[in-house]
Amino acid sequence: MIEFINVSKTYPNGVQALKNVSLTITQGEFVAIIGLSGAGKSTLIRTVNQMHPITGGELYVNGQDVSKLKGKELRTFRRQIGMVFQSFNLVKRTTVIKNVLSARVAEMSFFKSLFGLYSKEDTLLALESLDQVDILEKAYTRADQLSGGQQQRVALARCLTQNPQIILADEPVASLDPVMAEQVMDDFVRINETMDITIIINIHHVDLALKYAKRVIGIRDGIIVFDGPVEEVDEAVLHEVYGRSLSEDEVMGSLADVAA
Ligand SMILES: Nc1ncnc2c1ncn2[C@@H]1O[C@H](COP(=O)(O)OP(=O)(O)O)[C@@H](O)[C@H]1O
Ligand SMILES: [Mg+2]
Repeated sequence: MIEFINVSKTYPNGVQALKNVSLTITQGEFVAIIGLSGAGKSTLIRTVNQMHPITGGELYVNGQDVSKLKGKELRTFRRQIGMVFQSFNLVKRTTVIKNVLSARVAEMSFFKSLFGLYSKEDTLLALESLDQVDILEKAYTRADQLSGGQQQRVALARCLTQNPQIILADEPVASLDPVMAEQVMDDFVRINETMDITIIINIHHVDLALKYAKRVIGIRDGIIVFDGPVEEVDEAVLHEVYGRSLSEDEVMGSLADVAA
């Protein structure tokens, strides 16, 4: 369970990116966060694993007060949280399987990691993860030979190899074409349903948020302006989140470039 209690985040330059955010996400939920560029979506998900420490309020993950974690405790805590980014972040000139196995490095001795001496169990886990996202046949292909959608699946498999309880995904399909975007969203849904992993996903495609998420959180200028089941998202809610009415094209397409 993830619990935000009156959380705020002010960056050192004075920008207040989160204002009094309170919300609870239970294990196994699939949540989409929507909002304009600059609304605070990335900040919100990055506070969960303390990539961006909060500056006010309280934040608990599975009962742990995350703002109190330091050093080894923080590293151990972070291992249960996977992250997926818009840009995949793969090592392009190496194989898919080596990319996926890199998620195990944190659990290995320095010596073993230095020489890439992965255990049989780790290799099996990596192959299983690739199978989960339907890309097992690419295990020994170089990462840069894959399409964008396939690379994002590899990034997702790398995340799974960490055995996470939570996956934070920051605009994971923003740079994919619509067909690939849907395939990757299908992977997220399958992982959520079969492995009971909590998924929190920032997404600027309104149609994808509505199609795939069970719960939608709308954020505007650092304030949660909507939090509810996807069935309750209507024109009025979108108006509140985006600050104006949206055209059909905007709902069906990308809102990345819509100015606040
Ligand atoms: N590292 C940072 N330092 C200072 N300001 C930041 C930083 N990251 C984000 N911001 C500011 O915080 C606000 C929210 O940004 P962000 O969380 O990235 O929004 P979103 O992901 O919805 O586009 C914006 O005004 C942005 O300029
Ligand atoms: Mg962002």
